[in-house]
Formats: sequence, C-alpha cells, structure tokens
Amino acid sequence: MSRKNWNAGDLSIIRSVCTDQGKGNAGMKKILVTGGAGFVGSNLCRRLVQEENNDVICLDNLMTGKLDNIQDLIKRPNFKFIEHDVREAIDIDIHYIYHAACPQVLRRIRKAQQER
Ligand SMILES: NC(=O)c1ccc[n+]([C@@H]2O[C@H](COP(=O)([O-])OP(=O)(O)OC[C@H]3O[C@@H](n4cnc5c(N)ncnc54)[C@H](O)[C@@H]3O)[C@@H](O)[C@H]2O)c1
Repeated sequence: MSRKNWNAGDLSIIRSVCTDQGKGNAGMKKILVTGGAGFVGSNLCRRLVQEENNDVICLDNLMTGKLDNIQDLIKRPNFKFIEHDVREAIDIDIHYIYHAACPQVLRRIRKAQQER
C-alpha cells in the first residue's frame, strides 16, 4: 500500500468553518462523521439523522466500510455521503466532527487490502 502512515494530526487538514454563514436554516447543525460507512460511524449517522435539525455528512474512503451500511440513509434529505480519504485535504462547512475513520480490526484491513 502506497499510503503514508496515519497520524492523529492529519485530521487538522479537514478545515472547518464554524460560523452561521452557509447554514440553510437557523439552528441547523452540520455534523461531519468520518468513517461514516463503518460499523460505529454508520450507526452514529443513523442516530444523528433522526434529529431534523442535523445535517449529517458521512465521509469515508470505503477502506473497510461499505455503502451497504448506509444504504437506508442515502435517501434522507439531511444525509450526504462523500467518498474521501481523511488524509487528503477537504473544505467542508461544519459545526461538529465525530471521528470514526479508523479501521478497527487488523484482520479487516488486511482483507480490504487483499480485495484491491
Ligand atoms: N466496533 C466496536 O465495537 C468499537 C468499540 C469501541 C471503539 N471502536 C473504535 O471506533 C473506531 C471505528 O471502529 P469500527 O468498528 O466502526 O471500524 P470500521 O472499520 O467498521 O470503520 C472504520 C471506517 O473508517 C473508514 N476509514 C478508514 N480509514 C479512512 C480514511 N483514511 N479516510 C476515510 N475513511 C477511512 C473505513 O472505510 C471504515 O468505514 C475505531 O477507532 C475503533 O477502535 C470500535
């Protein structure tokens, strides 16, 4: 694999703008869930979209996560999926971040690498 090693500081490349500008409606919370197509992230997304005032952005590179995990969420108006690697810079207007983009089980990482 040619990717560089994970570094906790890398999350800083997600540049957040925490202002009221860009919010569609007053009181809307834009929430980024990294690793949102994984086990923890997808269940977190499922819980967060239940709140009408939450706009949930699920960001995942699908390394070990699966679109099947969020299939039921795609049709929700307050849910958006972005296929992206957190180690690459991205500009998103958000208020909160839940960071679950961390493959949990080494076995699953090896399996994902073998499937490439
Ligand atoms: N599963 C559990 O029971 C459990 C319990 C406690 C804590 N945790 C922790 O929660 C975190 C997530 O665990 P999980 O079980 O959901 O693992 P998971 O492998 O199912 O989910 C991780 C997700 O992150 C994505 N991902 C990995 N690297 C990425 C990158 N560079 N950019 C974007 N997306 C990336 C993967 O594709 C996957 O969808 C881990 O840190 C784990 O230690 C898990």
